[in-house]
Amino acid sequence: MRCPKCLLCLSALLTLLGLKVYIEWASESQLSKPYRGPRGTLPGPTAAGFEPTLPANLSARLGQTGPLPSAYWNQQQWRLKVLPSGNSTEAGGCQAWGAAAAAEIPDFTSYPEDLRRFLLSAACRSFPQWLPEGGSGQVASCRETTVPYLLLAVKSEPGRFAERQAVRETWGGPALGIRLLFLLGSPAGEGGPDLGPLVAWESHRYSDLLLWDFLDLPFNQTLKDLLLLSWLSHHCPGVSFILHAQDDAFVHTSALLDYLRALPPSWAPSLYLGEVFTQAKPLRKPGGPFYVPGSFFKGDYPAYASGGGYVIAGSLTPWLLQAAARVAPFPFNDVYIGLCFRALGLVPRAHKGFLTTWPADRTAEPCALRNLLLVRPLSPQDSIRLWKRLQDPKLLC
Ligand SMILES: *[C@@H]1O[C@H](CO)[C@@H](O)[C@H](O)[C@H]1NC(C)=O
Ligand SMILES: *[C@@H]1O[C@H](CO)[C@@H](O)[C@H](O)[C@H]1NC(C)=O
Ligand SMILES: *[C@@H]1O[C@H](CO)[C@@H](O)[C@H](O)[C@H]1NC(C)=O
Repeated sequence: MRCPKCLLCLSALLTLLGLKVYIEWASESQLSKPYRGPRGTLPGPTAAGFEPTLPANLSARLGQTGPLPSAYWNQQQWRLKVLPSGNSTEAGGCQAWGAAAAAEIPDFTSYPEDLRRFLLSAACRSFPQWLPEGGSGQVASCRETTVPYLLLAVKSEPGRFAERQAVRETWGGPALGIRLLFLLGSPAGEGGPDLGPLVAWESHRYSDLLLWDFLDLPFNQTLKDLLLLSWLSHHCPGVSFILHAQDDAFVHTSALLDYLRALPPSWAPSLYLGEVFTQAKPLRKPGGPFYVPGSFFKGDYPAYASGGGYVIAGSLTPWLLQAAARVAPFPFNDVYIGLCFRALGLVPRAHKGFLTTWPADRTAEPCALRNLLLVRPLSPQDSIRLWKRLQDPKLLC
C-alpha cells in the first residue's frame, strides 16, 4: 500500500458512514414507535389508573395528607367545594372571593403586583368573547366545518401578528385532520395602543382567532385554557387531541400526527403529553421569576407538562372543566393544569421530542430538529427557514 494514511482515512470514513446510518435508523425507529419510558417499558397506565375520576374530597389526591400548612392556597383547597360561577357581575361571586383572599393573607400587601392582581380576580373565569364590530370574524364551530383530529390551540397575544403569520405559513398551515386556532385576550389592552381594528381585520381575514374580553397578561393565561375547554365543550366536542402551544413554538405536525395515530387505544383517551417536570418546587426568591411567597403556597408542584407545548386528549374536556371548578386557582397555568390532572388521578407522560426551553443561541438546524415533535422558542424567521428546509426533498442529514 503506497498510502497508509489513505487507508486510515477510508476506514474512518466507513466508520462515520456506519454511524450515520445507525443514527438515522435509531432516530427513525424512535419516531415510528411510541416513546419508551426509562426502563425500556412502555409508559402504560400507572397504578393510579387511566380512567379519570374525581373524588369528593381532593385533599389526599393533591398531596395534602400531613398536617395542613397555613399557606393560603393549601387552606383554600382544603375548604373548597366549588369555585363561584366565575361571573364577575353576579353578587357575592368571583370578586368577593378575591377580596376575601386579600383579607385572609397577612402579608398580601408585600406580594408582587401581578400576584396581587391575580388573586383579586382569580375566581373570575367567565368572560364573553371579544368580537370585532360588525360581528364578522366569528370562529366557526366544528359542526359547520369538519371535526378535526388534532386542534392546534396556540396561545398568542394581540400584538404578535408576525408570530401568528409564521405559524399559519408553516406548521399550522391547512392539512387533513388539522385545525388551527389562536387564543387571545382583548386587543384593547391596558394603557397600550388600541390594536382592535388590526385584530378585527386579521380575524375577518383568517377566522382563526378566539378572543375573549380579558386583559392578556401572563397570569391570565389559565383563562385561555379554561375558556378553550368551555368553547370545545360547546362547539367542538368530538376533537381527538388538542395541542397547546405558544406562538414561538415550532411543531413537526406530521410527526406528531403519526405519533398520536400510533398510540395504544388503552391510554390515548387520557393523554397528557409533553416535556414533564416531576420534581419542581416553588421558587422563593422575592423579585425573581416565578416567585411564590411561602404564605401563599407550601409543598411541591404536581408533575406537569411544560406550558410551552403539550397535548391533551379531547375526551378529557368535561373532566378538566369539572376539576378546574374544584382546584383552587394558582398563578402559573401549566402548574394549574398539572394540579387539575392530579385531581383527576391522571399522570403526564414525558416525550423526549418536546423541547420547550431550547437555548436561544442554538441555530435551527433541520437535521438536529428533524426528529423532534415541538421545540421553542424560535423566531418567525427561523421557523419559516426551518419549515422550508424540512420540506426540501433534497435534504440530506
Ligand atoms: C379530606 O381528606 C383529608 C385527608 O384524607 C381528611 O383529613 C379530611 O378530613 C377530609 N375532609 C373532609 C371534609 O372530609
Ligand atoms: C353573568 O350574570 C349576569 C346576571 O346574572 C348575566 O346577565 C350574564 O349574561 C352573565 N354573563 C356570563 C358571561 O355568563
Ligand atoms: C385578568 O383579566 C381581568 C379582566 O380583564 C383583569 O381584571 C385582571 O386584573 C387580569 N389579571 C391579571 C393578573 O392581570
